[in-house]
Amino acid sequence: MAKTDYLQMDLGGPFKEFRLYSSRFQGSKRRVMPWLMEGIQNHLQPGQRVLDAYTGSGLVTYALTSKGYEVTSSDQLLSSLMTVQAMSGESRDLEPSELSDALAFASANGSATKLSSIYAGIFFPQEELIWLDRMSQFIQNLPKDAQPRAFWALFQSALAKRPYNLFHRSNLDMRTREVSRSFGNKATWEKPFPDHFAKFLAEASTHALNSSRVETFHGDPLNIKASNFEMVYLDPPYINGRGQTTPYFDYYGFLDLLINPSLIERINHEKANKPLEPVEGGWHTPDAALETLEKLMLNFPSAKIGLSYRSDGQPSMDTLIGLMQNKREKVTTYMKPLKYALSTKVDAEEILLVAE
Ligand SMILES: C[S@@+](CC[C@H](N)C(=O)[O-])C[C@H]1O[C@@H](n2cnc3c(N)ncnc32)[C@H](O)[C@@H]1O
Repeated sequence: MAKTDYLQMDLGGPFKEFRLYSSRFQGSKRRVMPWLMEGIQNHLQPGQRVLDAYTGSGLVTYALTSKGYEVTSSDQLLSSLMTVQAMSGESRDLEPSELSDALAFASANGSATKLSSIYAGIFFPQEELIWLDRMSQFIQNLPKDAQPRAFWALFQSALAKRPYNLFHRSNLDMRTREVSRSFGNKATWEKPFPDHFAKFLAEASTHALNSSRVETFHGDPLNIKASNFEMVYLDPPYINGRGQTTPYFDYYGFLDLLINPSLIERINHEKANKPLEPVEGGWHTPDAALETLEKLMLNFPSAKIGLSYRSDGQPSMDTLIGLMQNKREKVTTYMKPLKYALSTKVDAEEILLVAE
């Protein structure tokens, strides 16, 4: 199967598993991917370079490379960029001996780090937390080109065992309580870490990007100096109608700690789930979002700007279009009814605005 066939399969095949444990595109958004790609492609020529500025799970980067574009991916989360690197030609599978050493090290009775004391009783039973902690120590010491796929398998394993596949609540008791559950999968939660890890590791190489090299940037896209982008694609955190933003550090910050233990300094110990303190982001309020969008449009003056958002969010669609019209000659609007996986009602539209 040619790599470019992936999208024609409605993002099935490798995507089914790849997307399993990542929130933003789960359900509704995944189904709008062909629509999103079509909208973006209306404004690009084959082979042009796109900045996927808020890359998240890497799904859009994956889809763009499958359509033959060159991509630069950026995000504030290390785990997002590690995921993109895991899919790129810069990453390799573990040798069989590396895998057996990894599994032996993680399961051995040995020292754990501060991570295992700080997060005791919050997300995982203690023996699982220590396994995660030790596996992360082992992967940090692997050769650089062996790390991304191993980390990706570790992230997927950890997310698989979390209620809602997130780290936003201290809710280990949901796993341990003997109550009937209307969601979640007890069998997946109970499956031992080594089994999850080996399965995801075997799967990692099936998600290869259709591009030998994808540039990655960790941090705020406003700090990107390169200017060779035909389009800057933005899928920023959604701010809902009540003005609340989506807290990505609460959701996935724990995974970044598995990559870089020095981030322990940034933990907020006041909150029950002990999230990483968010960095200055620009998408925490509707006003900040507008300011950030304007700065991004000025930062990349010759690039087309593609913005994914929702019609029921703040800032409003009209406000976003107004700002974009001020900074570019033309704005094209694409809309698609949004239906959530567990809901039958259509209560909002997914929007794509392209300014050029
Ligand atoms: C809606 S998600 C992106 C979803 C993505 N398109 C996908 O395919 O999964 C928003 C992303 O923006 C990132 N983010 C939020 N604020 C940021 C900032 N100021 N700088 C860099 N990344 C940021 C979050 O970490 C999150 O991964």
